[in-house]
Amino acid sequence: MTHSVTVRAAAKVNLHLGVGRHRPDGFHPLSTVYQTLSLHDDVTVTTCPRWAVDLVCEDDIDRDAFPMGEENIVVRAGRLLATHHGADRAAEFTVRKSIPIAGGLAGGSADAAAALVALDRLWDLQTSDDDLLALAAQLGSDVPFALVGGTALGGGRGEVVAPMLDEATRWWVVVPARTGLSTPVVYRRFDDLCPDAPDEVTLPEELLAALAYPDPDNRILATLMRNDLEPAAIDLRPELGELIEAGERAGALRGIISGSGPTCMFLCSDRGSADRVRTTLLDAGHPRVLVALGPVSGTHVVEYV
Ligand code: C5P
Repeated sequence: MTHSVTVRAAAKVNLHLGVGRHRPDGFHPLSTVYQTLSLHDDVTVTTCPRWAVDLVCEDDIDRDAFPMGEENIVVRAGRLLATHHGADRAAEFTVRKSIPIAGGLAGGSADAAAALVALDRLWDLQTSDDDLLALAAQLGSDVPFALVGGTALGGGRGEVVAPMLDEATRWWVVVPARTGLSTPVVYRRFDDLCPDAPDEVTLPEELLAALAYPDPDNRILATLMRNDLEPAAIDLRPELGELIEAGERAGALRGIISGSGPTCMFLCSDRGSADRVRTTLLDAGHPRVLVALGPVSGTHVVEYV
């Protein structure tokens, strides 16, 4: 009998994040291109008489920002899945966290997707892919993409996901901030800065073409990346603008804020370039600078015990 299941879930970057005017339900229509990164969390589930969460992480993760109780998104995911199957069950989660919290990298969404898949396997529920995606969408706009992974086009409020063929490998330098940014706060600042945002967002046709016919060192893609939330995140944290300039001066093809930020992402031409940018930013006093590659697979099992 399976005692525990561990599922890996990747961080994401938005190569494109087009944002429209907020809808009557408060969410914003998006046209986005998501991509998973090798930076990941691992979520382990074990059957338990009551819902419980444990966090394992290095000191550079903001522990205080991680809810330890029922409000944690992995518990919400577990309850949702159990209710969907009419099962009166509970589990303990151990989250081994490397993805910064509230960093714009969808770490919580990745954990939620991992919780759904891990419990589905642990309890042999055989939830259909369609049902898993529907449950994921109830948990958050980025959760369905975390299930799918790779490179994908996102629509709706982010929850409508269409996988894309993407055979390239890209090297990124990832610079998390010491403290996170609240996604709703960044969207509200977007509303203040862009009162004339369009009701409908268009597809990033040129970027999609650059992904379909990639140039070997990503120079074209770098010029086409766009994040409509970037001005709002920089307005809230002006130092992020300086960090982007520093990374580009250090040799990155392009610096961009991931999602609602504050993590800054630097696309580099190859691994050597990424290592050089990382060293320069570390020497400049940034305490945590990572190198990651993408795309990688979506949520998947790494261990059954
Ligand atoms: O869907 P998720 O729980 O990740 O969204 C968190 C918050 O981010 C929402 O409550 C909303 O304020 C904002 N949001 C938005 N438009 C989106 C996605 C998120 O305004 N498309």
